[in-house]
Amino acid sequence: MGREMKNSPALREEGIRNADFLHDIKSALEFYRELGFERLPLRMQKMNHAADSMSKDAALKALREEIGDCTRCKLSRERRNVVFGEGNSDASLMFIGEAPGREEDLQARPFVGDAGTLLTRLIEKMGFKREDVYIANIVKCRPPQNRDPEADEIGICRGFVERQIGIIKPRVIMSLGRISAMTLTGDVKLKITAIRGSFLDYKGIPLMPTFHPAYLIRNPRDKWLTWTDAQRVLKLLRDE
Ligand code: SF4
Ligand code: URA
Ligand code: URA
Repeated sequence: MGREMKNSPALREEGIRNADFLHDIKSALEFYRELGFERLPLRMQKMNHAADSMSKDAALKALREEIGDCTRCKLSRERRNVVFGEGNSDASLMFIGEAPGREEDLQARPFVGDAGTLLTRLIEKMGFKREDVYIANIVKCRPPQNRDPEADEIGICRGFVERQIGIIKPRVIMSLGRISAMTLTGDVKLKITAIRGSFLDYKGIPLMPTFHPAYLIRNPRDKWLTWTDAQRVLKLLRDE
């Protein structure tokens, strides 16, 4: 591959860019592998992991900056805050909702209203903390009166959530509600009641579509179905 380790680790040089540093670590680790070591020593594994999650943090931060005070679609007119998403940049599990609501728009954080309380309970029941997973939405700005995001808005914004997924590379995604499943699968006719509970594929990542927590607040009798879906996700994470 023509990759060479640099002679002197540039760590001491002032002004070196973080990305170069991470790249050096990665090349050193790759070199080690090319020498025929199948598994890295534990300390190097930890370095590798740390380098990975530092570069994911940096990439998410860069994406957030790129979105900026976005006016790319008409949802920008009435929103207060862009709600980027939050959580562990190196998460194995990612939740993807639809769009920020009122509380999310005010706080610039995803899922912090009533639906968020229910989602947080699900996450905890699955044995995680909110900070262990990553939570984002298909569109980053609140639609007026919480209407569904429209096709043009989704079409313009969806690239951002797709890039978040591409950076985080979770082992599994749970999509919340019809709009999220529809966007990630590209199936505009999809019926959430028909497809929830079985794994679909998003660019090689298992995708479990389930109900939206706001729907479950209105239809609490369906909560057990979402719990069934969550258990399938947990089984997949355990089996891997
Ligand atoms: Fe930009 Fe997305 Fe907000 Fe539209 S919804 S203004 S594309 S961040
Ligand atoms: N509903 C969503 O889809 N996303 C949020 O962040 C909050 C409510
Ligand atoms: N309809 C939706 O849009 N979402 C759900 O989660 C359930 C029904």
